[in-house]
Amino acid sequence: MRQAGRSLPEYRKLREGVPMLEACARPDMIVEITLQPVRRYNVDAAIFFSDIMVPLKAIGVDLDIKPGVGPVVAEPIRDLAATRRLRGLEPDDVPYVTEAIRELVRELGSRPLIGFAGGPFTLASYLIEGGPSRHHEHTKALMYGAPEVWTELMRRLSAITLEFLRVQIAAGASAVQLFDSWVGALSAEDYRANVLPYSSWIFAQLAEFDVPRIHFGVGTGELLGLLSEAGADVVGVDWRVPLDQAARRVRPHTALQGNLDPAVLFAPWSVVAERTDDVLARAKAAEGHVFNLGHGVLPTTDPAVLERLVEYVHTQTAN
Ligand code: CP3
Repeated sequence: MRQAGRSLPEYRKLREGVPMLEACARPDMIVEITLQPVRRYNVDAAIFFSDIMVPLKAIGVDLDIKPGVGPVVAEPIRDLAATRRLRGLEPDDVPYVTEAIRELVRELGSRPLIGFAGGPFTLASYLIEGGPSRHHEHTKALMYGAPEVWTELMRRLSAITLEFLRVQIAAGASAVQLFDSWVGALSAEDYRANVLPYSSWIFAQLAEFDVPRIHFGVGTGELLGLLSEAGADVVGVDWRVPLDQAARRVRPHTALQGNLDPAVLFAPWSVVAERTDDVLARAKAAEGHVFNLGHGVLPTTDPAVLERLVEYVHTQTAN
């Protein structure tokens, strides 16, 4: 999840004076930052250090990732002309991704590396709003009011996302996650009509590769069935829906990922342990489970608690 490393002093030290997008374009930094949480926490998989905005930056969109704010786009995209200026992504646009992943796969040995990309709705929201948004009002205005622009934007973003994932798979990533983090802002009907066709297309194109595909969004209790219908092998669940209920909402043979509330890590350890036991117990109703938090690690999380949590999950799940 986003910011797993941000709670670490060694991460903050390495990033001192290096802007986020610059760090994402330097293979040495990508490799080191990806490995830091693996070393510290002994997690079972590494998540590639990058950001969902990296491929958009790589094709020339003027954007920045501001600390404490998130992605900010200089000229929001709200018409057909601006949409058509979004060109396709080529592997040569992100040579640092290929280089870093090859190196990481060597260093990680048998430990899997999870690659990722942003989902089409979430990328569209940043581009249309120009930055983080609570209500996604410009995005919805365009989706409802200018369907031809919406369709063109979703097609282009889906192709960019697919290519970004392909580059990562080609370099050796062993699983991929599609983060359509903000789709929870949509009703099931709107999701089905305006986003599902594009996510389905991305997952269908990925089917030719032998890698598990994970699909995640925040606040998606009402959309879990549709997120699995898009074609994912694993659906990520935030903390709002217990995993046994989530298991009934997804298609058969779909595994679940999640879903400890990241804020619970601030409670006394006895509560953390109790909630973790609850997640693990409810996950038995699912056809496969990847233990995780329900969203990103909060930056002020105590690394010692995360360390203890990973150790605890390992003990509780050891056969
Ligand atoms: O923990 C990791 O290193 C995993 C790599 C990762 C990052 N971004 C690095 C990052 C991943 C998987 C992401 C995905 C991402 N980026 C998502 C989808 C996942 C999710 O959390 O829902 C989204 C929505 C973004 C966009 C984005 N980038 C936001 C909203 C922010 C937070 C801004 C802030 O400071 O609060 C970022 C910045 C970002 N991406 C950071 C990291 C480690 C923090 C930047 C910093 O340390 O300066």
